[in-house]
Amino acid sequence: MAAPTFKLNTGHEMPFVGLGTWKSKPGEVQAAVECAIDVGYRHIDCALCYENEKEAGAGINAKINSGKVKREDLFIVSKLWNTHHDPKDVRSGLMQSLGDLKLDYLDLYLMHWPMAFANNGKIFPRDDKEQLINADVDYVETYKAMEKLLDEGLVKNIGVSNFNEFQLGRILKECKVVPANHQIEIQPYLLQEDMVQLCKKNEISLTAYSPLGSRDRPWVTKEEPNILEDPKILKIAERLGKSPAQVLIRFQVQRGINVIPKSVTPSRIESNIQVFDFELSADDETVIRSMKTSYRACTFLPAASNKYFPFRENYKE
Ligand SMILES: NC(=O)c1ccc[n+]([C@@H]2O[C@H](COP(=O)([O-])OP(=O)(O)OC[C@H]3O[C@@H](n4cnc5c(N)ncnc54)[C@H](OP(=O)(O)O)[C@@H]3O)[C@@H](O)[C@H]2O)c1
Repeated sequence: MAAPTFKLNTGHEMPFVGLGTWKSKPGEVQAAVECAIDVGYRHIDCALCYENEKEAGAGINAKINSGKVKREDLFIVSKLWNTHHDPKDVRSGLMQSLGDLKLDYLDLYLMHWPMAFANNGKIFPRDDKEQLINADVDYVETYKAMEKLLDEGLVKNIGVSNFNEFQLGRILKECKVVPANHQIEIQPYLLQEDMVQLCKKNEISLTAYSPLGSRDRPWVTKEEPNILEDPKILKIAERLGKSPAQVLIRFQVQRGINVIPKSVTPSRIESNIQVFDFELSADDETVIRSMKTSYRACTFLPAASNKYFPFRENYKE
């Protein structure tokens, strides 16, 4: 059975729980997408910078061509990469994703980060000292170029990702279209309450990325906390007869937040979406909320020199 949906501020329905595809290798991601659609996922989270959109698209198209689903049953998300922030490059960034995915339109197109990089054909453009090469493009100008994609019908909704409160505030003040969605890291160590409130007030839906702590990140260390093994989560999972991942996913769903766990393992893909037949009690929620720290899995520190790096303290850009 397909997962429940919720209404975006544009009136479109977005399915709760999507399949994450970052780090899913070519050779794995097509099978993961096909498995996900078979077990009820209708929302697939893609991005140009994951460098696997051709294979993710092959999985999507295989399921459409087999008659399992229709294109309009699916909610496909992709993201404008940092190298395509110059307003003149925004459309070509989208066209590359659409071409690779072999789709005519996206359901949601997000600005992946507020930061712009030089556009020299590389996903991570670097100078001779191996430092990322920034570009001086204001994310507000990038967003205004994304608004035009809506008029062309190439995307049904637009939104942002990894913005801080100040940056989202500027989009709300200076742009015409209120973002339909904001995708940020959310897990019990990083509850993001201020952003949750800001988005609620402005009717912007939230998607939680790295909801399981992203343990397959290239820069993960042994010293970092592993949320899937946190004793508080294990205790709740054991009592309910659910997996730790199901508890983590259900917690966000109960907060009204969409979740996009990544997996290439069929049994996990299947169980990660089975979170609509149980509830966490108010006590469980209190315990999970008490886990809050300032830990963040996706820091993107190599980009910290960028003028619009979002995770600086006392940010105002
Ligand atoms: N907007 C952004 O900047 C941004 C940043 C990060 C992520 N994202 C999106 O969010 C998605 C999810 O985040 P993520 O990939 O960082 O990490 P995640 O979903 O928190 O964790 C993925 C890891 O958890 C494992 N896993 C999945 N289900 C499990 C289960 N039931 N039990 C135990 N382990 C399980 C996966 O292993 P297997 O695959 O081996 O099963 C993988 O190692 C991404 O794939 C991407 O689509 C967006």
